[in-house]
Amino acid sequence: MSTSQSVTVADSFRRSPEVVAALDAVIQRLESSQASITESRPPVDGGAETLEGWLARSAEARGKGALYPYVGSGIGNGLLVELVDGSVKWDMINGIGVHMFGHSDPGLVRVALESALGDVVMEGNLQYNSESIEFAEFLSQEAAKGSRLRNCFTTNSGAMANESALKVCQQKTNGAPRVIAFQDCFVGRSTTMAQIGDSAAGRVGIPLNVHVDYMPFYDPAMGERSIKMAVWHLDQYLKRYPGQHSCFIFELVQGEGGFRTAPREFFVPLMEMCRERGVPVWDDEVQTFGRNTEMYYYDVLGLGEYVDVLTLGKMSQICACLYTDDFNPKPGLLSGTFIGSSSALQVGHAALRRLRDGGYYGPDGRIAGLQTAFREHANAFVAAHPEWFPPAVDTLGRPITELVAGTGGMCRLTPFGGSREKIMKALHIMFAEGLIAFICGHDPYHIRFLPPVGVMKPAQFGPVFEVLERSFEKVDLAD
Ligand SMILES: Cc1ncc(COP(=O)(O)O)c(C=O)c1O
Repeated sequence: MSTSQSVTVADSFRRSPEVVAALDAVIQRLESSQASITESRPPVDGGAETLEGWLARSAEARGKGALYPYVGSGIGNGLLVELVDGSVKWDMINGIGVHMFGHSDPGLVRVALESALGDVVMEGNLQYNSESIEFAEFLSQEAAKGSRLRNCFTTNSGAMANESALKVCQQKTNGAPRVIAFQDCFVGRSTTMAQIGDSAAGRVGIPLNVHVDYMPFYDPAMGERSIKMAVWHLDQYLKRYPGQHSCFIFELVQGEGGFRTAPREFFVPLMEMCRERGVPVWDDEVQTFGRNTEMYYYDVLGLGEYVDVLTLGKMSQICACLYTDDFNPKPGLLSGTFIGSSSALQVGHAALRRLRDGGYYGPDGRIAGLQTAFREHANAFVAAHPEWFPPAVDTLGRPITELVAGTGGMCRLTPFGGSREKIMKALHIMFAEGLIAFICGHDPYHIRFLPPVGVMKPAQFGPVFEVLERSFEKVDLAD
């Protein structure tokens, strides 16, 4: 049924010449203001005190200090962001992969302004506006191209999307109590997700009431044997606890776990076994979604036919749980006051449309080009500075094969033998020098970059690596 015919008061308001002219004027002014932000720079005079003041207030209000002395001023220019001290930094982490068009993208600011003209700020499951339908429709339609996923429940955090996915899987398996997940996985910080995530620090003081069976992730050093070993492990769990598993959570590229990838051949036998033995396949794409050579990572590996339930978040602005018709839960299982803000729904939808239609995806798309450019710069950097790149070893004491790795808009570098302490020191020096990145992995640790794939140009890796070089020069290797 067509929904485009009705002419409402809201339509005539939004399209009125006064509103359009006002928005044009704001965007023009934004563009001229942000034109002065062209590279990283130190704080302005007096800026340091302003920042300190804000950080003290933040620590007081939140009861703990921040990891980075970061308080944004509210403007930027793509990959560059201005802080309240007037400094400008290259932002290569973007709220941990959220701002895919970087900072102050004029097109998205315009969408956010338009969304602010609506009657409400937050939309909910009882009462919502058309943008929340368009958003869910977009995700379902894109998913339907390569999978059986047809239905979309939107929510406002990755953890909540995952809670929804777990409930869908549990209901489908009549309350099966166990969960299968990969070693080193991260799935969020709700009480249940903190227990499933493979990080001891994330569940200190949390009573354990979730039964998790951990699977080894793909090990490139073992190749084919790693696949056989994983199949053997899964078979063991399924025989030990027949009919007791509600799902197997697949993170097809481990995010927090260290940007680890695995080939299709690793996942297929595991997913086949799940299908044969009635264990739902849940694909957690909260970190991978949107930033690879296909919008859904299962399409990169051609695994869509196996996926029963999927979660996504971060760069979509609004998070979501998608499921097949067969997994559509009974009424009452999924809901909540909030879907999210109107601006997040409209900006998320606009950003995803731009990515889909702008030549970003595919093996020769712009996102693949960024990974290539990253690897070229990173490999040259490693070759020029072997002193910063001693071999890093895994928990079994074997050297890891790739010091430069990642896929699509997930880029990883392993300096200082993968030492957490040295990498944390380097990250703080990088921040002070004008480059923001973050850590990932568990012994070895890595520096990770989540560049804004929508706006970053391959040539911008040049200045980024210049800051990296002058920062690493300041890391005390003897420490
Ligand atoms: C794979 C994965 N799942 C779930 C989450 C949790 O998302 P959120 O932090 O939005 O709750 C994350 C966050 O990093 C993630 O990487």
